[in-house]
Amino acid sequence: MTATPEILLFQPLRLPGGQIVKNRIAKAAMEENMADTSHLPGAELRQLYRRWAEGGAGLLLTGNVMVAPDAVTGPAGVILDMTQPLQPFRDWAQAGQANGARLWMQINHPGRQVYAATNPQAIAPSAVPVAIEGYAHLFAQPRAMSDTEIAEVIRRFADTAALAEEAGFDGVQVHAAHGYLLSQFLSPLTNRRADRWGGSLENRARILIEIIRAIRARVAPGFGVGVKLNSSDFQKGGFESQDAVAVVRMLNKLPVDLVELSGGSYESPAMHGRPQQVRTRQSTLAREAYFVDFARDIVAEAGMPVMVTGGIRHRATAHAALESEGDRAGVAMVGLGQALAYSPDLPNRWQAGESAVDVPVIHWKNRALSGLATMALTKLQLRRLGAGRSPRPQAWAPWVLARDRLRMARRSRRYRNWLQQRPTA
Ligand SMILES: Cc1cc2nc3c(=O)[nH]c(=O)nc-3n(C[C@H](O)[C@H](O)[C@H](O)COP(=O)(O)O)c2cc1C
Repeated sequence: MTATPEILLFQPLRLPGGQIVKNRIAKAAMEENMADTSHLPGAELRQLYRRWAEGGAGLLLTGNVMVAPDAVTGPAGVILDMTQPLQPFRDWAQAGQANGARLWMQINHPGRQVYAATNPQAIAPSAVPVAIEGYAHLFAQPRAMSDTEIAEVIRRFADTAALAEEAGFDGVQVHAAHGYLLSQFLSPLTNRRADRWGGSLENRARILIEIIRAIRARVAPGFGVGVKLNSSDFQKGGFESQDAVAVVRMLNKLPVDLVELSGGSYESPAMHGRPQQVRTRQSTLAREAYFVDFARDIVAEAGMPVMVTGGIRHRATAHAALESEGDRAGVAMVGLGQALAYSPDLPNRWQAGESAVDVPVIHWKNRALSGLATMALTKLQLRRLGAGRSPRPQAWAPWVLARDRLRMARRSRRYRNWLQQRPTA
């Protein structure tokens, strides 16, 4: 007999380190670009996370927080290193833990995926620039990292995790997906190194493994440590699904509490819609939760709970991802990004029996522009929620995108000034 959605979705989950998450619904990381002028969380971010916590999700993952001030995925993002004051983070943590939600900070280094307008000096495993037809000039030309720089990045991830714990967060999620630095190390297309950080998959995964070890050496055993990993980069010759399985086997040997599966990068933005390479089956589950098939393969190998994110809109889809399919076990948690931007209390609504949320889909010919418009429209909702307003799904995408570009240009200038004037560690 199959369980009803209420029972499966709202069952608590005990993580390997002992932390209990009250249900199986996580708010996936979404970069907000809502930090204050010092790149700290302020009143808007507190309000936004309080709304999500009150909306019923068991676990909230923050948008990516940068571990290095001079390497940011976008302007007006949150930065946490030893030079930042901790009180704003304490206040943020408290807001995001309302209603018994667990709050984890996603921590990230972008590597080569930085805009030349914000960080012209980019570092990466190898000097391979981002190649997106027509847009390559927007990205910085990276240079290969030295051994010392690799050691520094490892220390930075550990510093930020230790600070997150001190501020009261329940855990951190190391971002090793979507083409950012750790994902660049994992992919043979971007990692051409011939030293112990490149070559075999074991070498390419070394930085990730070292980061988890360095974090664990600095935090309490009950503090959550998770990893967001691509099930595939969806690029020929890149990080593929069998590599993801092998990395999860490596992570099995470490105290990792949760692995979240996503996919894609800026060059192949699978995280914003079903990748062309993933065949559709007729079921809503396969159409909506497009990484769930991969996720089931990983669940079979993983020693820790697995979460899948991407495309989930309906309660029935979320429930089906948790359920077994034949002899293939389901995932332990589902991650929701855009659905919670348009309906922050969707978990409460699901518990009350409601089904789905309407998330606008942008299908422009230019995939890169569609991706940017999707992000801009979603971020508009985040700002509205942070200002205490309701979401506005009917906003006109071209207008929202144009305004977003102007806003980002202004924030980029502000960030560059801040970077020049800030005290160094
Ligand atoms: C505006 C926006 C910002 C995002 N920022 C992040 C991020 O900071 N870190 C991350 O891992 N994923 C990020 N993502 C990807 C989401 O976590 C998620 O994988 C993706 O949106 C697909 O899930 P969904 O269909 O439920 O939205 C972002 C997505 C959007 C729309």
